[in-house]
Order: sequence, then C-alpha cells, then structure tokens
Amino acid sequence: MTSATGPLPTAARSPSPQSGEGETPRHVAIIMDGNGRWAKARHLPRVAGHRKGIETVRVVTRAARSLGIEVLTLYAFSSENWRRPAEEISDLMGLLRHFIKSDLDELAREGVKLRVIGDHTAFAPDLVKMIDGALARTAANTGSTLVIGLNYGSQDEIVRAARALAGRDPAMIDAAAIETVLDTSGLPPVDLLIRTSGEHRLSNFMLWQAAYAELLFVDTLWPDFGADELRAAVTAYGLRERRFGGL
Ligand code: IPE
Ligand code: IPE
Ligand code: MG
Repeated sequence: MTSATGPLPTAARSPSPQSGEGETPRHVAIIMDGNGRWAKARHLPRVAGHRKGIETVRVVTRAARSLGIEVLTLYAFSSENWRRPAEEISDLMGLLRHFIKSDLDELAREGVKLRVIGDHTAFAPDLVKMIDGALARTAANTGSTLVIGLNYGSQDEIVRAARALAGRDPAMIDAAAIETVLDTSGLPPVDLLIRTSGEHRLSNFMLWQAAYAELLFVDTLWPDFGADELRAAVTAYGLRERRFGGL
C-alpha cells in the first residue's frame, strides 16, 4: 500500500486494504459485559455472575488459542469501575487473585505471554505483586499473548502517553511515537472488537488501537459466551471487507 500524502498511522499502515475473507484476526479484543445481569436473571448476587464470567474467560482464552488468534485482549476492570460499590470491587479483586492462582500454570505451560494494560499499580500491594509475578513468569513466552485490561481506560492511557512524550521535540511526535508509549506498545492493532450483553458502546476501551477494528456487538451475556460464539465471531470477521480508507 502506498500513499502520496505521507505516512499513515501505524494502525492503518500495517495491514493492506483487503477483504478479510476467511482470515483469522490477529488481535481480538473483548469487552466482557453482562455478568451482573446474568446473575440478576437468576436471583443471584452479582458476584455469582463475575464468578461464572471467569469460567468464560478460561473457555474463551483456550478457544482463542486453538483458533490461532495471536493476541486476545480482555477488558476486566475499567478505570471507571472504581465507581462501583466497595464490596463489588473487593469481590472482583478477589476473583482476580483466584484466577491468577488457578490459571497461571496452564497459561505458562501453554506458552502464553501475559500483558497488562492500564495502571494496575493502583491495586492492593499483594495483588500488584501477584500480577507482576505472573507477568515476569510468562515474559519469555513466545506463543499467543493474553492482554488483560486492569484499571484500564483509553483516556487515562493517552494522558499517560502524552506525559511520556511531553519533553520531546514536537516534530518527532507522530503516530508511531505515540504507539511506543501506549500500554499496548508492540502489539498489533485490534482487528476485531467484540462487546457482549447488547450494549453498543466502547466504554473507554482501546480508542486508539481499535481505530480500524471491525466491531461486533452481541446480545449474549458474558457468562453465556463461549467457544462457539467466538468461532462465529471470527467467521463473521472473515466476511467483512476491510478498506483502511483505500478502495
Ligand atoms: C462486566 O459485567 C464485568 C465488569 C465490568 C467487571 P458487569 O458487572 O458490567 O455486568 P452488568 O453490565 O451489570 O450486567
Ligand atoms: C466495561 O463495562 C468495562 C469492563 C467490561 C471491564 P461496564 O459495564 O463497566 O461499562 P458501562 O458502565 O456499562 O459503560
Ligand atoms: Mg456492565
């Protein structure tokens, strides 16, 4: 792909205009939504929905690996989720601790490299330590990458990126330079962004990285999502025609 008018931002530059026919997305990002409503429909406490949601995380990360998806990003806790009641926040943190304890071995064994986006250092010190330990343990892995959004919000990420670039020569600041200071630096742009639970919004997720992503909104609540639905999403992606501004 050539351009007469100068370089394109990396997100648009890396893939060439193409019909994605039959192609597997390299990077799938999911806004895992609907845990609370899943629980409510069963007259259960919200935490029961989050607990079931963790099972879905397990199923979907396995399915993503078997589909050959290189990078799977899961939005687990947003920078706005601090607005929830303290008890729910504490339940979510407890489930994150539990997930690391129960699933890190499998991820490490399967060659999965873990990454975190967002400022997880705002979490409790013991949890920060666990997360850092998990990142270090899988850092050398070269299989697929599992990215978890923890205290993540795109606007916060962009603010931190702007701060990191603030002292630089303005002429040197371009899209590629910005990408090097985003939490996702080095990862491919999002090809397919899925949100479950019938909400049609991005809720401050991957605003830069999803610039050219195909968007898929499904009504299924996250605890009911599974391998078949991920497969269906990938098939639907393969039928989309991606143009990246070209023809
Ligand atoms: C998504 O489910 C999980 C998180 C945001 C942590 P919700 O908790 O948002 O569930 P609903 O949207 O209330 O159903
Ligand atoms: C988005 O879901 C955040 C995560 C999935 C972690 P929310 O449930 O927090 O989003 P809103 O508040 O409905 O936009
Ligand atoms: Mg929600």
